[in-house]
Amino acid sequence: MSEESHIVIEEATEQDLEAIMNIEKSSFPEYPYSIEIFKTLLKDYGRYFLVSRSGSVVVGYICGRIFRGKFGEIVSIAVIPNFRRKEIGRKLMVELESRFKNDGIKFTRLEVSVRNTVAIKFYGSLGYEIVKLTKNYYPDGSDALTLIKFLEVENRELN
Ligand SMILES: CC(C)(COP(=O)(O)OP(=O)(O)OC[C@H]1O[C@@H](n2cnc3c(N)ncnc32)[C@H](O)[C@@H]1OP(=O)(O)O)[C@@H](O)C(=O)NCCC(=O)NCCS
Repeated sequence: MSEESHIVIEEATEQDLEAIMNIEKSSFPEYPYSIEIFKTLLKDYGRYFLVSRSGSVVVGYICGRIFRGKFGEIVSIAVIPNFRRKEIGRKLMVELESRFKNDGIKFTRLEVSVRNTVAIKFYGSLGYEIVKLTKNYYPDGSDALTLIKFLEVENRELN
């Protein structure tokens, strides 16, 4: 059986935070989120904080929150380098979007650096569209793109 067929997605726990921080710091060396922010997100939005595990090892995570009571925001997502391009990121996004949708959220949004061409392609492949450019958004001075996606409503009630 291949490595990726063992991958499961679960809600993150406090015990996962150290591994999540390691992935965060190696993925965003210049501006990682702090452990305090992750602890707060886990406490307040645990339903939207997910990990991918290969056996007992956390190989990816995604965390989201509700923004202005209206948008599902993707706060952070990362997959460890050896496990990239195996659909782990896509599956994390699909699970988080499905949770937002089940909770009545119609749009998701996120910010991504204009320099992060891989992530821009990744989000594009998932149907995200660029709606805004914000200059000097990140601590390194790079600009941010805001991307959004309409979460189609399935099981619409028939009139
Ligand atoms: C962005 C990231 C989470 C993607 O995770 P992943 O598990 O590798 O992505 P997937 O395998 O699910 O890719 C899904 C699709 O996204 C696109 N994609 C992903 N990585 C890509 C790359 N390196 N180059 C071009 N397209 C890419 C492709 O369309 C891919 O589908 P395909 O493999 O069938 O062509 C991962 O690259 C990562 O952790 N990057 C560092 C952290 C980061 O930048 N996070 C986003 C911050 S806003």
